[in-house]
Amino acid sequence: MIKVFTVIGARPQIIKASAMSRAIADNFSDSITEILVHTGQHYDENMSQVFFNEMGIPAPDYNLAVGSGQHGAQTAKMIVGLEELMLKEKPDYINLYGDTNSTLAGAIAASKLNVPIMHIEAGLRSFNRKMPEEINRVTCDHLSTLLFSPTQTGYLNLIKEGFDAQAKPVFTPDNPGIFHCGDVMFDNSFYFGDRAAAKSTILDNHQLTKNNYVLATLHRDSNTDVPDRLQSIMEAFLHIAEHAEVVLPLHPRTLKKLHDDVHHKLYERVKKTAQLKIIDPVSFFDMIQLEQNAKMVITDSGGVQKEAFFFRKPCIIMRPQTEWVEIVQSGAAKLADADGEKIVSYYHQWANQREMEFPSIFGDGKAARFICETLIKNT
Ligand code: UD1
Ligand code: UDP
Repeated sequence: MIKVFTVIGARPQIIKASAMSRAIADNFSDSITEILVHTGQHYDENMSQVFFNEMGIPAPDYNLAVGSGQHGAQTAKMIVGLEELMLKEKPDYINLYGDTNSTLAGAIAASKLNVPIMHIEAGLRSFNRKMPEEINRVTCDHLSTLLFSPTQTGYLNLIKEGFDAQAKPVFTPDNPGIFHCGDVMFDNSFYFGDRAAAKSTILDNHQLTKNNYVLATLHRDSNTDVPDRLQSIMEAFLHIAEHAEVVLPLHPRTLKKLHDDVHHKLYERVKKTAQLKIIDPVSFFDMIQLEQNAKMVITDSGGVQKEAFFFRKPCIIMRPQTEWVEIVQSGAAKLADADGEKIVSYYHQWANQREMEFPSIFGDGKAARFICETLIKNT
């Protein structure tokens, strides 16, 4: 039996973990056992617990309850907690998702204990080291033993950084194995899309009509923590709201920033604009129901830009670059950064465009199965 120590902490990691937990329970329970560890990076009910209930994820075996904080302090607390737990549990592998501080902490703690790392979402690069996520993902990749890239571009990035596509088992941190396997987030959207449509009442709850509203999310620190950028984005939303309803399930970090004195007047205007609906973060079913029925998505989220693509919706990405370059190359997404004029102009372009291409980029909905099989073959 292979004992996998899975670390989750931020909302998207909990969501990603559901695909792996499901694959293990359905097909590999006789060969893989999973210890689920929540660092507590996200802790509000609607940023964490809601996903366990809805997506059938087993309750975490441990919760480090680390909470929010400066990057160094937060990551350090996680390292201490994860190290203790790995010494106790003696896992065969640690399983890390994506690029958050929980990922980085897991990578550092495990590599010092010589616990091999499997990294799901390896190889993604923005080539922007100002992003905390870029530092986390580069570090994690270069400490990993099994690297699972969701896209061809991610796989090629690893080769450019010196990973050997011809490497042969036995894989170790000094002889890592790299794999292009599709995206566990696509597995989830594929699996839950119809269930969400059957169960979610979010459209009725907010009197939204299909294909008639814009779905937006906003939480990237480079947008929320720079007042001019946050102002420019919110002005763009206010403008678009003159033409279509804009629904914004808002990350708590962004809501806190809007409450700052510097944004007082802006926030007052936003609150008075009925067509710009700020709502609390929603469950996964509600979110993919909102995505499936939006006329367009505007986001700085990594996961939401992909889900827009999965559900064949045009997407305006409020970042200067993206790791998911294929989406932009396909013409289904445009990079607007925090430039309000670009956001508005792309909105108008797409409001009138009908034909778009959504080539198959993210696999066949069985990435988690491939990852489990590869793990079993190589342990
Ligand atoms: C983190 C990840 C980011 C990911 C995002 C997903 C890092 C460096 N960043 O960013 O890559 O895209 O999660 O959502 O790991 N807060 C709450 N309640 C919560 C969680 C957070 O109020 O349950 C507030 C706190 O004020 C906190 C702030 O949000 O300080 C930021 O949270 P944090 O986890 O540090 O970073 P995110 O912006 O969520
Ligand atoms: N999501 C959600 N509810 C929300 C906003 C997002 O369930 O109110 C989901 C979304 O469908 C996607 C994931 O959270 O699966 C993306 O997480 P987030 O945007 O927080 O982080 P990122 O992907 O940018 O790291």
